[in-house]
Amino acid sequence: MSNNLPHFDVLPQHIAFIMDGNGRWAKQRGLERSEGHKAGAKTFRRITEYCADIGIKYVTFYAFSTENWNRPKNEVQALMKIFKEYLLEADDRERENDIRQSRIRFIGEREGLPQDLIKLIEKAERKSKKYSKITVNVALNYGGRAEITHAVKEIVSKVQKGEILIDEISEQTISDNIYTAGQPDPDIIVRPSGEFRLSNFLQWQSAYSEFWFSDVLWPDFTEENVNDIINDFQKRNRRFGGV
Ligand code: IPE
Ligand code: IPE
Ligand code: MG
Repeated sequence: MSNNLPHFDVLPQHIAFIMDGNGRWAKQRGLERSEGHKAGAKTFRRITEYCADIGIKYVTFYAFSTENWNRPKNEVQALMKIFKEYLLEADDRERENDIRQSRIRFIGEREGLPQDLIKLIEKAERKSKKYSKITVNVALNYGGRAEITHAVKEIVSKVQKGEILIDEISEQTISDNIYTAGQPDPDIIVRPSGEFRLSNFLQWQSAYSEFWFSDVLWPDFTEENVNDIINDFQKRNRRFGGV
């Protein structure tokens, strides 16, 4: 396919993608923003499949932030419809899911999402629970600060119940009470569309993540870009505060 194929023997364990630029992609083509989101959903499927095929163990995709509720009502509705359609389709692709062995998980607050979407989310999580080749996290109604706030409440409640002592609270306790509990932190966070910010994504988990930025708009994101990310990642020197 390409001449930039990386060595697949030293892969990042976890890549996180901020799927940004759908609106601008649509605007460039004189289309409605919702058309950009539809194109972005296709890219999401393609990139997930590629990551699974090359052997990445964890991927996380930022699909809808706690701040994205501030968008016009019709855009929010269009997005919720796309999420539902994706889940209905995935449910139909049983054989394919079986081949890819991918486990899907949703991170973020369920509260606030439409009831029928919550049902589909629960079904997809339940049905794919048995798979472990790749874990696909979809961050939906997700905010990094909301996640930490949620963890604080969980921990305080455990303290109140006497399940843990204040002195026992460690960084690990926080990691164990956020949505991604049990998963490795992202090795690299990818933001396309020319923006250089996290926008409330994986605030806690990103402490030592590498970053990869590009002007490419999410619907135009390709497998080649994933190869570039891996190639770049393999050249990074991660010191974690050491020498
Ligand atoms: C990302 O694309 C999708 C979501 C935030 C849901 P945008 O809709 O933010 O696209 P731009 O940034 O306006 O181009
Ligand atoms: C981040 O993109 C959220 C998602 C991609 C789901 P935004 O477009 O919402 O971020 P800002 O507003 O440009 O920071
Ligand atoms: Mg955006």
